[in-house]
Amino acid sequence: MSVLLALHDVERSFLMGDEPITALDKINLTVETNDYLALTGTSGSGKSTLMNILGCLDRPTTGRYLFRGADVAAMNDEQLAALRSREIGFIFQNFNLLTRATALQNVMQPLIYQGVRRSERERMARTALAKVRLEHRMQHLPNQLSGGQRQRVAIARALCSAPSLLLADEPTGNLDSVTTAEIMALFDELHTEGHTLIVVTHDHNIAARCRRHVRLLDGRIADALTPMEDVGA
Ligand SMILES: Nc1ncnc2c1ncn2[C@@H]1O[C@H](COP(=O)(O)OP(=O)(O)O)[C@@H](O)[C@H]1O
Ligand SMILES: [Mg+2]
Repeated sequence: MSVLLALHDVERSFLMGDEPITALDKINLTVETNDYLALTGTSGSGKSTLMNILGCLDRPTTGRYLFRGADVAAMNDEQLAALRSREIGFIFQNFNLLTRATALQNVMQPLIYQGVRRSERERMARTALAKVRLEHRMQHLPNQLSGGQRQRVAIARALCSAPSLLLADEPTGNLDSVTTAEIMALFDELHTEGHTLIVVTHDHNIAARCRRHVRLLDGRIADALTPMEDVGA
């Protein structure tokens, strides 16, 4: 497997008034192509801050972030936005769908920014919706879909442009256990097909089924466990 991304001594701090808050402290992490990584930690431990940096929505205060060997710090906003749109798919706890747009329109939407022709956008979106088994719900609005179906629309949207990395921040946080199992089965399938996934979760059952598990504590990596070591965690 080849290295997709690497963080070297990454720090991210915020100013709260005059007080600096260190949200991430000396993070070192390497993620390979087709990795399947669970990221856990208590609330405030820095998970979302780390996901934002990994997803190029934010930059480290100090330290290096290399994506396919290229230093993200050296990129301007335009280059960063292009990297984000081509290489990274995001999945959020609250689905973040456009409420007045159909499932199909939601999935097509990011492709507009990539300059994909309309007919091609629709073809790609239909393929992605079929992939998450929603071909029978393409013309539905989000409020006509169940929570699990909404999350599958969001997954189709993330998958649509064939990104190198899928980042999911508490993707099952708003779902019941049956729907959670469906979404995780879909993630397992994507991993088997060669996708690279990083999943933030509070659920140890979810963490245990990923290939690797990294735990954050107060902005630092507390430990990195393989699934075998994770039993009983
Ligand atoms: N934009 C911000 N401004 C100020 N502080 C922030 C900001 N984002 C995160 N933080 C702080 O950084 C720490 C980590 O937050 P976060 O990454 O959201 O944790 P988690 O996702 O694990 O709950 C918290 O102390 C939080 O208050
Ligand atoms: Mg968070």
